[in-house]
Parts: sequence; C-alpha cells; structure tokens
Amino acid sequence: MVKMKVLVVGSGGREHALVWKIAQSPLVEKVFCAPGNAGTAELAQNVDIAAEEIEKLAFFAQMEGIGLTVVGPEAPLVEGIADEFQKKRLRVFGPSKAAALLEGSKAFAKELMKSIGVPTPKFQIVENIEDAIEAVSKKQKAVVKAHGLAEGKGVFVCKSQQEILDAISKIMQQKIFGHAGDKIIIEEIVDGKEASILAFCDGENYQLMPPAQDHKRVFDGNRGQNTGGMGAYSPVPLITTKLLKEIEDTIVKPIISEMGKRGTPYVGVLYVGIMIVKGKPFVLEFNCRFGDPEAQVVLLRLESDLVEIMLSCIEKKLSGQKIVWSKKAATCVVLASGGYPEKFDKGKKISGLEEVKKMKETIVFHSATKSENSAIVSNSGRVLGVTALGKTVKESIQKAYKAVSKISFEKMHYRKDIGKKMA
Ligand code: GLY
Repeated sequence: MVKMKVLVVGSGGREHALVWKIAQSPLVEKVFCAPGNAGTAELAQNVDIAAEEIEKLAFFAQMEGIGLTVVGPEAPLVEGIADEFQKKRLRVFGPSKAAALLEGSKAFAKELMKSIGVPTPKFQIVENIEDAIEAVSKKQKAVVKAHGLAEGKGVFVCKSQQEILDAISKIMQQKIFGHAGDKIIIEEIVDGKEASILAFCDGENYQLMPPAQDHKRVFDGNRGQNTGGMGAYSPVPLITTKLLKEIEDTIVKPIISEMGKRGTPYVGVLYVGIMIVKGKPFVLEFNCRFGDPEAQVVLLRLESDLVEIMLSCIEKKLSGQKIVWSKKAATCVVLASGGYPEKFDKGKKISGLEEVKKMKETIVFHSATKSENSAIVSNSGRVLGVTALGKTVKESIQKAYKAVSKISFEKMHYRKDIGKKMA
C-alpha cells in the first residue's frame, strides 16, 4: 500500500483534532498543517502559510506531492480553495465555492431553504438601509444577521426596536463586517434548544455524525457575549433517534438533493445548526466545515479511519462506507484568554500540559498556542480544548474538568457548566 502525505489547512482546535485523527490512519505517511499551532507541531510538520493563501497552499501541495488536502476553516472554502486545487488536479476534501455558499451567504441559504420547504425561522432579506428600516418599523424584537462571513460575530439578537436599528446601522452603515453587510437578514427570534448536526457528504449521499451541542456564550448559564464556542459534548440526549430521523428527512436529505439538482453538489462536511422548538427542528445556519469545538468531541468518538471516509466522499463512494462511532461520550472544555471574547491577553505561559498527557482517554487540543523559548504560550482568544471520553456524558464531563484542573495560565477562564444542563 502506497501511503500518502496529507495537508490540513487551518490553525485551531478543530485542525488539531483533524491532524490527530488523520495521523492515526494507516493510509498516511506524513501530515503537514498550514499554519498549525504548537499542538499540531507535535504530530505534524507545521508550514508557514496562512489558511487564506490559496495559491501558496496549492503550490506547496504540488511541490510536496500531497495526496489529500483537508480544509478546516470556512474562509478559504468560501473563497474557492477546493476549485483551485481541483483545477490543479490536487485531491481536496471540502465543498466547492458554489456549494460553500451555504455558509458564505446567509441570504442564499435562506432562499434555498424557502424554495424547498426546509424549516427555518421566518425572514426577510434587505439590500439597503431604507428597506431595512421600513422592514423593522413595527418590530420590537428580531435577529439581525449580516449575510456574509463575519467570523461568527455577524448575528445580533435584538430585544428592542433601538437594538434592531443599532444592529442595522453597525452592519449596513458603519460596515463593521465590510461587504459581508451588503445584505442583511431580518429573522424572527425562535426560542428553544440548540444542537449541531454534522454530516459527511459525497455530493449525492451523506452519513450523519453523532449530534453535538456547543456552548456559544462566554459565561456560565449562557450569559455574556457570543464566542466561537466555549465547549461541547456528544451525544446529545435532546436529539432522540426519532428527532434525528426528522432532521435527516426534512433538512439534510432535501438540501443535499437540491444542491445536486442545481449543479453544485455538496462534497465535504455539512454542519447544520439546529434550534429545537417544541420538539420540531428549525435551521439557524449552515456551515461548510466541521464545527469548532464540535469537531473535537465528534472526532474523539470516531473509531473508523477518517482518511478513508474523506476519500470515499471525494470518490462518491460514501454509501458503501461503514462508519463506526464509539458508544462512549465526549466533552470538550475550552480554556480562553483573560478578556476573551473582547480584548484579550496573549503570550501567557501554559503549565500542566505534560501532566494531562498521562491521563487516559483525555486529550488537550490546542486552539491557539505557539512555542516560545521552549515553553508553550497562548496565542489568541480560545487557547485550548480539554477533551475527554467517558462511559456517559456525565463521566466525560468529570474527566474533562479533572484535566482542566491541572492546566493554568495567567487570567485563564472557562465555563464551569459545559454539558451541565444537557438539554
Ligand atoms: N461551534 C460553532 C462553529 O463552529 O461555527
């Protein structure tokens, strides 16, 4: 068997989890990560190319003879990295630019859902400030969303007319997200419980991964600002087998089928952000990639070879692919820098990582770290994702927090209630 070299694009906890899983594949000779972090450097060779530098990444892949490139973050996918690699006959896992529009344009995603009857909160799309003001004139609450990519910050849940107008002004007048704010979506607020449903897709077929639940707010009890995600667990008792089947039949299946019919087949990981309202699923958003920190818990539960699965997606052979998931549960607790998600400190020396390496079924995925003078230091807002397996969700939570207690860096903060409500 000829082994291949694999390139993982990105630098967060999701990419560390991808590198960790890919490095275990018998099909793999060597893993590279661009640009990676101090965690990926322990398993892969980091390459100093940013995730958005598509031409440079393709050149590197050609020169190095990379057999498979796996793209972690959304920005290069929405920019068309998969198309560029395919043009150069490089094997890549991730959707085309046209298919990645499901995340790249919320307006596109909403119109698509409406056209085929996929359940999603009621909405209006507006393209200028006058129409936006008129659309909200009688509203006292609404969700206001920038339609393009905004690093997870483009959604405002507004509870008064003034908040709605402020959000519209920030997005459309002050242009705080640039062209991502050329259109906005004004959506009804729906109240319920959230879950993340991810699926491997080969353009025609899909296989669902076990559900996960993220914790987006910064503080315990879902208080404070939205973040990239402060922790996750899987499985999610809220998502019963019956409900998962409904999500599959009313959301995943019609979306994959419609993307195929439109000539933009979806190949890669489809992430569906769901709100369960009175037992019924509604789509809040699509992402064109693994979630972070959902990837950390889901990949820890994957027993099959991830590279084999990704190749079967690319070769349109997913329907014949057996995917085995661990019956164990997983929890990830994110350790963040002081001040995050607002202005935060960086460069803080992290201690305790070696001690956690001795703990069974427990892994620290690095989200933003770098090596400095033979120490590992924090390098952004979300720093580490302490992740553990357990026989039950409760046990995985206990194990994750036990590992958290061994780790410290100045002003480190984290939520103490990951998985506690367990919906
Ligand atoms: N955890 C949310 C996301 O990956 O978008």
